[in-house]
Amino acid sequence: MMQKLSSSRLPWPTDWTALFGAVRPLVLEIGFGYGQFLQHLARTKPDANVIGLEIANQCLDSAERAIVRKHLTNVRVVQSMAETALHHLFVPGSLSEVHINFPDPWFKKRHGHRRLIQRDTLDVLVSRLQPNAMLYLATDIIEYAEMSAELLRETSGLDNTLPADWANEMPGRVVTKYEGRALQDGRACYYFAYRRNQQAAPDVPVGREIEMTHVVFNTPLTPDEILERFEAIEGTERKFGDIVVRMLHGYRGRKVLLFEVYIHESTLDQHISLVIAPHDTPNEYTLKVGTMGYPRSTPGLQKAVASMAEWLMSLNQESKVVAHKLGDYAPPSLSEETEN
Ligand SMILES: C[S@@+](CC[C@H](N)C(=O)[O-])C[C@H]1O[C@@H](n2cnc3c(N)ncnc32)[C@H](O)[C@@H]1O
Repeated sequence: MMQKLSSSRLPWPTDWTALFGAVRPLVLEIGFGYGQFLQHLARTKPDANVIGLEIANQCLDSAERAIVRKHLTNVRVVQSMAETALHHLFVPGSLSEVHINFPDPWFKKRHGHRRLIQRDTLDVLVSRLQPNAMLYLATDIIEYAEMSAELLRETSGLDNTLPADWANEMPGRVVTKYEGRALQDGRACYYFAYRRNQQAAPDVPVGREIEMTHVVFNTPLTPDEILERFEAIEGTERKFGDIVVRMLHGYRGRKVLLFEVYIHESTLDQHISLVIAPHDTPNEYTLKVGTMGYPRSTPGLQKAVASMAEWLMSLNQESKVVAHKLGDYAPPSLSEETEN
């Protein structure tokens, strides 16, 4: 059995040399599906560390089994959205090759915000590629090819290595499952091959964790009263720029209150818990992040804690923040309090 890897648990950024136990160029495949291409990369590039990203459990399990069965020691798969991995796991200039085969098969123009190939993803990709690194893309959807060609043409950090926007054949390529089906059905495929040049890359710093946050407050409300009031905001959302905080359910434990919260950020989704724990001092509590869901301390997480603290303070005029660690994310209504 291999230890399962996911971007929500790996260190940000990840020390790939330590993980593979060898200093080797990093080759990445995004959305490897059933992994034939990934295994081919591992076999044909024994001097590289090969990483595959997938979101589908079945694909991850099947690729992991194949890696173990075939004793491939230079490849690992990671459960992750590509956007999360690129922002959080890889430092700028660290990838020597990236392959994207048949992304977004249900391409619709109106699904733009969920599409893999878009300006933001290309910017972080260029930032993570090292000089002369290659970016390969394949699709069987002409609209996707046209859209990608336009975006790639506008990407000053990449040079096209083909005589035209794309090629319709790539001799020597191992055919992926999806590609095989497209070819069998008589659909044309469009292949792109770009090289990272010497132009400056967009400045996309690694999304590192920030200090974990908590708020100490006092209130005359009992835990049961707080829980009852929470029902009014269950299911509600608050937006802070790119960050969305959705309050899900509240639960009463033996000692603590636990609130399930969903946080969406542009590079990450988290489903975590916030906990209100009583102190020995009467009416005094700490609001903190619970351990459920392996929380990562991000601006979104701090916003969720700050937002919950603001709501708690709004419940009763006598409620007061005693101390907090919210850094830049303290809302104005709490900011006159001292940090500790
Ligand atoms: C059409 S399939 C292609 C699979 C494989 N590359 C092939 O050519 O047979 C697209 C794959 O990308 C994965 N995927 C979709 N969006 C992704 C994302 N944002 N990050 C990582 N993987 C993604 C899907 O789970 C799916 O397995």
